[in-house]
Amino acid sequence: MEIEEAAYAFPWTRGIFEDCLRVGYDCQGIQLGSLLVGYAVLTQVAGECHLLNLCVDPQWQRRHLGSVLLEQSIRKAIESNCESMFLEVRPSNRAGISLYRKRGFQVLGERPDYYRAASGREKAFIMFIDLDQDHANRTRPVPRHDPL
Ligand SMILES: CC(C)(COP(=O)(O)OP(=O)(O)OC[C@H]1O[C@@H](n2cnc3c(N)ncnc32)[C@H](O)[C@@H]1OP(=O)(O)O)[C@@H](O)C(=O)NCCC(=O)NCCS
Repeated sequence: MEIEEAAYAFPWTRGIFEDCLRVGYDCQGIQLGSLLVGYAVLTQVAGECHLLNLCVDPQWQRRHLGSVLLEQSIRKAIESNCESMFLEVRPSNRAGISLYRKRGFQVLGERPDYYRAASGREKAFIMFIDLDQDHANRTRPVPRHDPL
């Protein structure tokens, strides 16, 4: 909760985390020694993985921990035979959008009035990655430029 409240203007409540754990969503943490510095929460339904939360302690951001958590989440989704992963992100969240774009996510659409905001509501971008395609691209052999 300390990380969540430090990282987000509109954090999840303790009750939301408890519900996620109770219903068995995939909750992963990343630790430095015994210190929890970030976490991700995912759920999987019918071959689709939904990334519900991905957060790094503000004191530990920009050290590639978010990238590690995202990669670990993608790996778990692939291991569970998910074909795609999607998530919602605020259009104002430059760090989040940049992280996801860099990993190959694309904006698929929008959900109007999805988030609470300082004045009223803010829409969400829905971002998506085709995991089958991503896996194929990453495991395809690199062509050799050998003239012989
Ligand atoms: C988004 C978040 C998880 C990124 O975690 P992080 O550990 O700082 O990210 P990384 O160090 O792995 O950065 C990976 C890439 O993300 C982008 N990025 C991360 N922080 C950024 C920032 N402050 N501004 C712009 N781009 C940023 C960059 O493209 C970066 O690549 P680079 O280091 O080569 O420039 C983190 O900022 C966070 O927890 N934010 C609050 C919670 C949140 O918004 N989560 C996403 C909800 S959808």
